[in-house]
Formats: sequence, structure tokens, C-alpha cells
Amino acid sequence: MNKVEIQKILSIGVSPSRIIYAHPCKQSSLIRFSANSNVEMMTFDNESELHKVKSLFPTAKLVLRILPPSKCKCLWDLSIKSGVKPAKAIHLLRGAKSIELDVKGVSFHVGGGCLEPEAMAATFKEARMVFDQGRDLGFNMMMLDIGGGFPGHASVPVSFHSIAQVVNMALEKYFPAEEGIEFIAEPGTYMVASGFTLAVNIISKRIEQRDGELTDQPNMSDNPVVMYYISDGVYGSFSTLRYDHTAEDQSSHSM
Ligand SMILES: Cc1ncc(COP(=O)(O)O)c(C=O)c1O
Repeated sequence: MNKVEIQKILSIGVSPSRIIYAHPCKQSSLIRFSANSNVEMMTFDNESELHKVKSLFPTAKLVLRILPPSKCKCLWDLSIKSGVKPAKAIHLLRGAKSIELDVKGVSFHVGGGCLEPEAMAATFKEARMVFDQGRDLGFNMMMLDIGGGFPGHASVPVSFHSIAQVVNMALEKYFPAEEGIEFIAEPGTYMVASGFTLAVNIISKRIEQRDGELTDQPNMSDNPVVMYYISDGVYGSFSTLRYDHTAEDQSSHSM
């Protein structure tokens, strides 16, 4: 989430108490902006972030982002940039305690386009462990944020429904309703993937014969290669093809 996004959500009347700044590595100016906007909830996954938050927003409510216990099969892996190994979480919790920061909960994200719902269940188990460690240290742990990973289309190998089933079972097992823990998800792809239709122009056509010659009058029996050039590309709207492997997620959608 960036400043523009926070501003936008605030401008439509959402209370700052319902916003979580969910990037564990934040720009200092944005931490200051969050403090001035009363957006108190924010994630962290490393020690230097703790010190940054301490100096800029010492009353922030922190949520510790953990990694899934093993790599979850997914379309785009977020574990290379965010999350602490669950076994190392205690170190960060102690660090927060020692400088009198408040930790309110745990977050995770199994990766975009989750292909292995069982990995979600396994991460719930780790989140429970970290929750209990936080409580043992005296934190009032009350928030679980399960991130995203849900598909944006119906025609995918692992459906929203099958992930939801696993989530519901894991919630019941590890975070029973009686505890009253606040539970949120951050379904980005699920909310917006089907929200757009991209229109492009064909700006050029190139016909190449099998012998490599370019021609405007192809011999069709030679089975020429026809290449159409369009007014967009992988450095524009199609960047998700390279970085998010979206083609695999959208097999039934024309692009
Ligand atoms: C912190 C966080 N939450 C939610 C999302 C959205 O994830 P998805 O599109 O898999 O729902 C992302 C995506 O990068 C993210 O980094």
C-alpha cells in the first residue's frame, strides 16, 4: 500500500482503524504519513523496521509477517521479499518488547495465485505458534491477516472455493471463534482481476516465409509466419505476463 492508496481509502470515508499498511519494509515518509493519518496498524518482518517505526511512530500497532513453513506452489512467489521464518519470529517479538513497541498480531501471504491450499493450513499452524509466543511475552495478540493468494477467475486449477474450505477448517482448528480474534484477508487479485478488459490496436503486420524472406504476397502453401504488432507490450499492460505469470491464470481469457 502506498500513500495514494491510503489517501484514496481515507477519502471515501473508511476509518483509519480499518486500514493496515501491509508492506513490511516502509519508506520513512510513509510511516510519518500513516502516523499523521492515524493509520496505526502496520506489518514488519525485520529488526531495522522495528527501529524505524520506534523513532517515527512509537504508538503503531504492529503485525508480524511470517513466511509459510515451506514454499507454497503459486504463480508468483512473495516469499523472496517479505516474511520472517516462523522459527525466527520470537527474536523479532523480543526485539519489539525490548523497545516497548506493541505487537497486535500475525500476517502472512502464501504467494499470488495459490496452487496448494494445504500450504495455507500449514501456515495457520505456524501463525498460531507465533501468536502464543507473542502472548507469552505479554502482547495482546488479537489480529490474524491471511493476505491473498486467491484466484481472480473461475477457470483456474485451484478454485476460490477449495481455498476457502481449507481456510475455514484451519481457522476453526487454530483460531476458534470463541477467542474473538480479528481475522482479515487481503484478496487483491480476487477483487480486481476480472475488473478490466484491455483493448489494443494492431499497428503492423509482418509476414515471413519459411525461407526467412519477408513478403507482402505470401505463398500460402508455404505456411508463412504472420506476426501482428500491437500498441502495448510487456513494458506496459503486459508486464504481468513476465512477472506474475498471469497467462497461466487466465487461460480462458483473451488478452
Ligand atoms: C501484502 C499484500 N497483500 C495482498 C496482496 C494481494 O495478493 P493477491 O493478489 O494474491 O490477492 C499482495 C500482493 O502482492 C501483498 O503484497
